[in-house]
Amino acid sequence: MSVAPLQYLTHAAGPAAAPTYRLGWALIALVTTVMVLIAVLLVAAIARRRRAIAPGQAERLPADSGGLRWLAIGTGVSSVALFAALVYAMVTLESVASPSREAGLTIVVTAYDWWWKVDYPDAEDPSRQFVTANEIHIPVGVPVRVELRSADVIHTFWAPKLAGKTEMIPGQTNVQWIEADEPGVYRGQCSQFCGAQHAHMAFEVVAQPQAEFDAWRDAERRDAQAATTPDARAGQRIFGERCAGCHSVHGSDASGMQAPDLTHLASRRLIAAGQMTNTPEHRLDWIEHAQRIKPDSLMPSIALPASEAAALSAYLSTLQ
Ligand code: HEC
Repeated sequence: MSVAPLQYLTHAAGPAAAPTYRLGWALIALVTTVMVLIAVLLVAAIARRRRAIAPGQAERLPADSGGLRWLAIGTGVSSVALFAALVYAMVTLESVASPSREAGLTIVVTAYDWWWKVDYPDAEDPSRQFVTANEIHIPVGVPVRVELRSADVIHTFWAPKLAGKTEMIPGQTNVQWIEADEPGVYRGQCSQFCGAQHAHMAFEVVAQPQAEFDAWRDAERRDAQAATTPDARAGQRIFGERCAGCHSVHGSDASGMQAPDLTHLASRRLIAAGQMTNTPEHRLDWIEHAQRIKPDSLMPSIALPASEAAALSAYLSTLQ
């Protein structure tokens, strides 16, 4: 179940985001109060001066009409309010810097122009680690440590309902943490301008109950099944010729490193970093028109005769 757009403004979905939502609303309340107060005082001052300079009265305006006192009061009040806001912001930043208990899972997200590689490392047993793209799964109610890297330019990792923004800088690893209170699909977006397709560099965080997450993780750890139908086998051969230089499919010879891993492509909700739902038609549309859908993206548009397209499509559908 996806989150309704308006909720992105009104409700945080986890403890790494809730304090910053409260801070955001407190700052909005503060600036709104200040704005209203100043508007009221301005109107009052204009009205007062109008009265004071009614015909024949101008000369009677007292030399000191209390302006300095108001200036002092205004400066004092706004200094106190701004200082309080600064302290509140610093306390909030400190409170979301790290989770209150140890992270139950560590993942590594690497930003590429214009998609996200997601590694699930396993320090104890490296044969259990796996990689996916553009879709991050996490168990509900568990703090997740997210190590953030970039393969090219500066990007920013931002899943607004789950945490604030963190930059992804080439040659450096930054750390963010996220935790979801409820199961759901939370959208994320690159929020640092990173080139032509920056606006089309989205991702999703799928928060699941622990058992569902474990089942997903077990499925991701498995290699792709061997293609069995003649169509799928023909498709796998085409994939090896046209796609494997960039894409990898574990359990096959395809081991390209510069593009999203496609081992379990068909199980993902969206493709092309959140641009299209993941249907067989959209997959073919993307393959044939990648440069129209995401101009300048690092995937070429690949024209295929109808028979090859059908075979490739049959193969991609086996990548569950
Ligand atoms: C020159 C490298 C290159 C080649 C060749 C290539 N791709 Fe891609 N592909 C990419 C890149 C890079 C992306 C990510 C594009 C983006 O979202 O900005 C991508 C994205 C995709 C996606 C979306 C994956 C996702 O999870 O969002 C699919 C599906 C895909 N390619 C299939 C193919 C197929 C099938 C072929 C062969 C017919 C192919 N690609 C050939 C580089 C390549």
